Amino acid sequence: GCMGLDQCLNFDDFQKLARQRLPSPIYNYIAGGADDEVTLRQNTESFASVDLVPNVLRGVETVDLTTNVLGQRLALPIYLSPTALQRLFHHKGEYATAAAAEKFGTMFGCSSLGTVSMEELAKKHKTPQVYQFYFHKDRGLNTAMMQKAKESGINVMMLTVDSITGGNRERDLRTGFTIPFRLTAAGLAQFAIKPRWGIDYVRSEKFSLPQLDSHIKMKGNTLTIGRYFTEMLDPSMTWDDVEAMKEEWGGTFCLKGIMSVADARRAADIGCHGIVLSNHGGRQLDGSRTGFDQLDEIVQTVGERLDVLVDGGFRRGTHVLKALALGAKAVGLGRYYLFALAAAGQQGVERALAQMKAELERDMRLMGCTKISELNRDMLRFR
Ligand code: FNR
Repeated sequence: GCMGLDQCLNFDDFQKLARQRLPSPIYNYIAGGADDEVTLRQNTESFASVDLVPNVLRGVETVDLTTNVLGQRLALPIYLSPTALQRLFHHKGEYATAAAAEKFGTMFGCSSLGTVSMEELAKKHKTPQVYQFYFHKDRGLNTAMMQKAKESGINVMMLTVDSITGGNRERDLRTGFTIPFRLTAAGLAQFAIKPRWGIDYVRSEKFSLPQLDSHIKMKGNTLTIGRYFTEMLDPSMTWDDVEAMKEEWGGTFCLKGIMSVADARRAADIGCHGIVLSNHGGRQLDGSRTGFDQLDEIVQTVGERLDVLVDGGFRRGTHVLKALALGAKAVGLGRYYLFALAAAGQQGVERALAQMKAELERDMRLMGCTKISELNRDMLRFR
């Protein structure tokens, strides 16, 4: 039978519900990865390479999940990673996500490809805000976006550096998923069988990309997300550009998509406040190692000099605890909250966060820990 939000206990349940509600091009855009999706699968599988070794009899009636990361105080060691196009997933889009993040005291990142204006979003929700930046060929656009982010009082700039060209997302090529989003004749049938999504979508504000619209229109065509990266983003970007951008921003600055130890060191050398170890949820370079697998060595190399964050494949509280025990300052969620958003909007994201919070509290107790800072490498064994 049909499942409801009340029956959603874990990631797979949210994913199932999202799949029931979404037209297939949109569902597949969220769910998919690059090439053969090896990295996409590996992201979650890699947690099995490490086992938790609990301690008992520690007096764990109260558990404190608060943490400090990138100059922000979060009530939870997890945050909602920036993702594109949220109003396609649920008509309230980024507003729903930000409202849920605010309720749970964590950070939310608005994407360059966000479907609501970052100024409006930052005005409405005072939760720690992250602005995720893509470095465009059009330098004027870069400056204008950064200026807007500054004026909006956004706390953290997160520059994504793993998408300098589009990943090969074959699901999008097959379904014809493009931006700006178009209801093609061929796609229409798929939308007709998801009436509830269709009615909400048609009734809500016209789809747009407020951060970029004029620039995409200038091109006068529709693009797959892969082609957007390839055509709009600047593949000539180097560390010099990052340093210049960091100067221009002036505030807390973080690089998303760092994977090598050498790059982590370089990020620390130029004074970045943080890095996110990430393979973009397996959507860019297939066959890439996972952020989680790189965590130990990178924390040991630069962990004293900047905050090391990680994302990719986190589906359980225990996955998060393993990363924290290796020294990650916080863990980013992507599809976990996106499927919940697609399933039930703000309520869905709140349920996803509540589930994750309950798992974290339970697992902390079972590990014999009452504070995040008590988690350490001695509580893990590598297989
Ligand atoms: C993303 N991600 C992403 N990252 C980014 O820096 N800017 C963006 O606009 C997007 N957009 C985006 C859309 C969708 C649909 C997904 C699934 C992902 C990557 C995201 O921030 C994060 O790195 C991964 O999603 C983490 O992996 P999991 O949690 O999805 O497995």
